[in-house]
Amino acid sequence: MSNSIWIEQDQRLIWHPCTQMHDHESFPILPIKRAQGIWLEDFEGHRYMDAISSWWVNIFGHAHPDLNAALCAQAQQLSHIMLAGFSHQPIIELSALLVERAPEGLVRCFYADNGASAIEVALKMSMHAWRNQGQPKKHRFVALSNSYHGETLGALSVTDIPLFSATYAPLLTTPLRVPSPDCSHLPATEWQQHSIAALAAVETLFSQHHSDIAAIIVEPLVQGAAGMRMYHPAYLSGLRILCDQYRIHLIADEIAVGFGRTGTFFACEQAKIAPDFLCLSKALTAGYLPMSVVLTTDAIYQLFYDRHEHQKGFMHSHSYTGNALAAAVAVASLQLFDRDQIILQNQQKAVWMQQTAKRILPSAQVSNLRQCGMILAFDWVPAPGQSWDPNCRPGLLLHRAALQHGILIRPIGHQVYVMPPYIISESEMEELFEGIASAMRTAQEQPDLRWASLVQSASNHPMDLA
Ligand SMILES: Cc1ncc(COP(=O)(O)O)c(C=O)c1O
Repeated sequence: MSNSIWIEQDQRLIWHPCTQMHDHESFPILPIKRAQGIWLEDFEGHRYMDAISSWWVNIFGHAHPDLNAALCAQAQQLSHIMLAGFSHQPIIELSALLVERAPEGLVRCFYADNGASAIEVALKMSMHAWRNQGQPKKHRFVALSNSYHGETLGALSVTDIPLFSATYAPLLTTPLRVPSPDCSHLPATEWQQHSIAALAAVETLFSQHHSDIAAIIVEPLVQGAAGMRMYHPAYLSGLRILCDQYRIHLIADEIAVGFGRTGTFFACEQAKIAPDFLCLSKALTAGYLPMSVVLTTDAIYQLFYDRHEHQKGFMHSHSYTGNALAAAVAVASLQLFDRDQIILQNQQKAVWMQQTAKRILPSAQVSNLRQCGMILAFDWVPAPGQSWDPNCRPGLLLHRAALQHGILIRPIGHQVYVMPPYIISESEMEELFEGIASAMRTAQEQPDLRWASLVQSASNHPMDLA
């Protein structure tokens, strides 16, 4: 069977996320038939290496036998029960495992069903906690420049990527902003100093506005959707001290970086801090089912516990909160971390990843190569003596060229990154960077008609793919 039959039906029926649908006139959507390990396969038998864990979720690749088994076994037992007034074994086991692994003091789990919803929960919970303490004025949030926290209205309010937020500005609240500690443009020796210097702006803002501020929200160590902008853990350690000093909650959005991605189980571990709220999703269920959770302290929980005032309780819910199938897969995924010593293995794989990238990628076109655990990113720059049309969309061109070479990457503008499943082998890592290098040549050396037509249609797109 061919891809085209599915493409035609897709074109009639589906409106795809984060997509200018017109782009698919020149390059059709890719229908995937099946996936196994790190490989996707279309309806014509072509294979594509999933080098971004399908939007950063499939940490153990696709169709992992243990995760499949956990899902099937749970489906025989209980697929779903509402979590208000009821509970079940997988959600209790999952909560115990998360609390065991989380930074000290995070002992309560509140579930939702996607990343943006976890952010909504954390923002509302923070503001509500201050209100329950008699401080209703503390309802503003601080966010970093370049931040991304999701696309529901609350999460979008604390996001700083105009492609996603500008159109909806009339619907959003305005956070206070501090500059990002982004060190991506600096040599590693300068990261610590640069990150610490960025705390000065936070201190100034906190000292002026602390009586209005509920919380500051950060993506620990890596600002993902802004192009894998990375910074030093010293920023987080300093932030924790400032938050304590000015009585402001710290919300750590580890939706993209949690579960071993940065080299430790949680990114906050590298700064030796515990946030007041830890938001998790994406890799929580290893890419099987949507689920998210916010972990918080007993002190926060107690502020909502009241015999007399019902309204002091946290009146937030989603129909699929704490879904049993998702929880069962999440438990099985956490068990794999121990059984297969994933954190240790990732540390080894991160070393290969950097060595392989440096050996294979064309150094003249790679700038700001940076890495944080199992995330490696670089800026793709024109070859010496060449320049790009300012309207061209290098990310989209490279994405398409890479698919032709059997690799799924989704660059953000000219910032190229890989976040492969943790099960990637050494030889697959070679194949990955060989594929990216070939795709860079294809996209650069063969400016065909497609290139020309993209250039013409590109002027409204400040970012390519996110
Ligand atoms: C740091 C961060 N927070 C929140 C989200 C939103 O998660 P979701 O797409 O599940 O709503 C994302 C998604 O990319 C993210 O990277």
